[in-house]
Amino acid sequence: MDVAALRQSWAQFCVAGPEAAKYFYATLFVIAPEARTMFPTNMQYQQDKLLSALGHIITHVDDERELTAFAQRLGADHRRFRGEDQQGRPVPLAEWHYIWVGQALLATLERFLGPRWTPALRAEWAAAYELVARLMLTGAAEAERTSPPYWEAEVQRVQRRRADVCVFTVRPNYLCDYLPGQSLPVQVPQLRMWRYLSPANAPRADGTIEFHVRAAGRFSTHLVRKLREGDQLLLGLPVGVALSSYDRSPQLPLLLVAGGTGLAPLRAVAEAVQQGPGRATTLVVGGKTPDDLYDDQALRELAATPPAGSWRSGAGGGWLRYVPTVESGWQWQGEVGTAGQTAVRLGPWRDTDVLVCGSPEMTRETITALTVSGVPPERILVESYDQSLYPPLASAAAAAPQDFSWTGVR
Ligand code: HEM
Repeated sequence: MDVAALRQSWAQFCVAGPEAAKYFYATLFVIAPEARTMFPTNMQYQQDKLLSALGHIITHVDDERELTAFAQRLGADHRRFRGEDQQGRPVPLAEWHYIWVGQALLATLERFLGPRWTPALRAEWAAAYELVARLMLTGAAEAERTSPPYWEAEVQRVQRRRADVCVFTVRPNYLCDYLPGQSLPVQVPQLRMWRYLSPANAPRADGTIEFHVRAAGRFSTHLVRKLREGDQLLLGLPVGVALSSYDRSPQLPLLLVAGGTGLAPLRAVAEAVQQGPGRATTLVVGGKTPDDLYDDQALRELAATPPAGSWRSGAGGGWLRYVPTVESGWQWQGEVGTAGQTAVRLGPWRDTDVLVCGSPEMTRETITALTVSGVPPERILVESYDQSLYPPLASAAAAAPQDFSWTGVR
């Protein structure tokens, strides 16, 4: 496969911007009008999701092992998207769905590459697409043996911790196996849109999962305002590789730096550490004011719980040092500053694995502050929760922003 030719043509194609995504979907819906109901009605923000991922994956087909693992997983995850038969009944994605998408892709490339679209280039794209589509279909077929296409989860408990923050617990119908630090696609059936949320707990024996949500867009505002006990949600396959590798060097101390509801995956990681032999862990949670520390009590309880395994703290201290910090607070006795500033003050953190999770600005500022203070960048683990990207591709997007130049922002 001529990966260089695929990459070069993709880079040229991306210059077309959102027009190309519009053309792709318009073509897809002409080829297969029945595909229209599978996609959100308002595609203003997300219409490039599938297409940008498609291009990115296809232009990275040279690493066969990584491609196979990624595409099979994506195919397994795609089982949550259902087609419809002629009577309007839901059907799993099948080969013909992939043929529609492949035809729309080739037609779009042809339209926007103009004279650069040669028969040889067409053959390259067709072969690369077929390879990815086959891997996705195989991944879906194999996953059928081990997991449902999606989990149905009943809401068991809803707590509104602030006007704009809600903490809720669900119980999936089958055990949903995820790694602490990962996130799951979640759908509210009335809204028919999927968004990624991170479990705030390590997997529990009873299978229940806690989520933290702050009202920001339509989906999260719906959850914060309208979610009730007894409601049903759907959960897809867990994704994310960065934060869940928190145990890559278990002998090193761990620093967790959280902002807002970015706390959720880091609390799951802290709980997992507590369930093991323990590990010197510092959890810095930042807010603008004390009111932002919506999970303070749970974190204090976690810090007071000894590890399940054999933890030996040399100086008699606890395994978890929980450090709430705020930018300003009337009569606040604790640390003052952003999470990043406070984390740096508590350092140095040279031989420490650092996990950061919060808003994009908080994450950026924290990484800058930590690296300036001497933390080697390779010790810092970050997962992007940008809703407009498929999380496993987000780190690739940071490395190759031209691939994603027309990604919408919520
Ligand atoms: C090689 C082929 C394909 C690739 C690489 C691909 C990739 C992706 C990716 C990365 C996403 C975003 C997932 C997320 O953010 O949760 C996505 C979403 C989606 N894909 Fe695919 N996909 C492919 C084929 C298909 C096919 C054949 C269909 C069905 C006709 C399909 C239907 C969908 C739907 C309905 C969504 C959700 C869109 C949204 O809510 O914005 N995909 N796809």
